[in-house]
Amino acid sequence: MRFNECARSYDEHAAPQRRFAEALAAFAPFHRGAKVTELGAGTGFLTAALLAQGVRVEATDGSAEMVAVGKDNVPLAEWKVRDAFTEIPATAAIASSGLLHWAADPGVVLSHWHHALPKGGRLLLGVPCDPCLFELRDLMGEGPLRWRDEAQWLKLLSHAKFDVKAHGVLELEETYPSSLDLFRSLHGSGVTGAPRMSSGTLRALIRDYDRLHAKGDGVVATWAWLLIDAVAL
Ligand SMILES: C[S@@+](CC[C@H](N)C(=O)[O-])C[C@H]1O[C@@H](n2cnc3c(N)ncnc32)[C@H](O)[C@@H]1O
Repeated sequence: MRFNECARSYDEHAAPQRRFAEALAAFAPFHRGAKVTELGAGTGFLTAALLAQGVRVEATDGSAEMVAVGKDNVPLAEWKVRDAFTEIPATAAIASSGLLHWAADPGVVLSHWHHALPKGGRLLLGVPCDPCLFELRDLMGEGPLRWRDEAQWLKLLSHAKFDVKAHGVLELEETYPSSLDLFRSLHGSGVTGAPRMSSGTLRALIRDYDRLHAKGDGVVATWAWLLIDAVAL
């Protein structure tokens, strides 16, 4: 992933992430005046939605560039650079969208988050899950990221001693003018790593995607996010 490098182009290329962050905030709203620590806040999509609910947000991200853009976009939050995958300071509630699937061991990270919360402290969590981007994964292989389905995520939460109060998978079919535009969007939002394939392989992939997933004037990609409202046991 190249989030720090892509912080300035993230908003332009992250329409699905914005929709999921807004849906997550609406899925299980916090009480007005609640104090929430956001992890992996990026440029502030979820931050802005939480602030609109009257929540006081400490927005944190591991990337200094993301935090700089976030501060410009959502100045009313308190912004900090912080690694979310190690121990984090105690907090009354945690919110996060589009972060946890990047962890090498999400179960260990969830244990750190659990440790930071009081008993009954809330975790509002959004993570991409299967069948997110299955069209692309079918053609490319799974890559370095491990994709989990809803049941696997729920098991991880249960092992980390979270009681899931509500959950659901939100699926969106996103249309792009061509698969090249889909690749550009993924690249511009920083979710791709160093190139793993030759230019010939990439050209063949683009041709196959355009042929297999054409719809109307463009191509489609499925995006899917698991929305979770949980409390620490
Ligand atoms: C896909 S973006 C999601 C950003 C935002 N939550 C959203 O929904 O648009 C993932 C974010 O996680 C951040 N991130 C990745 N690893 C991190 C870590 N270990 N600690 C904190 N932030 C991290 C990245 O810098 C990036 O801003």
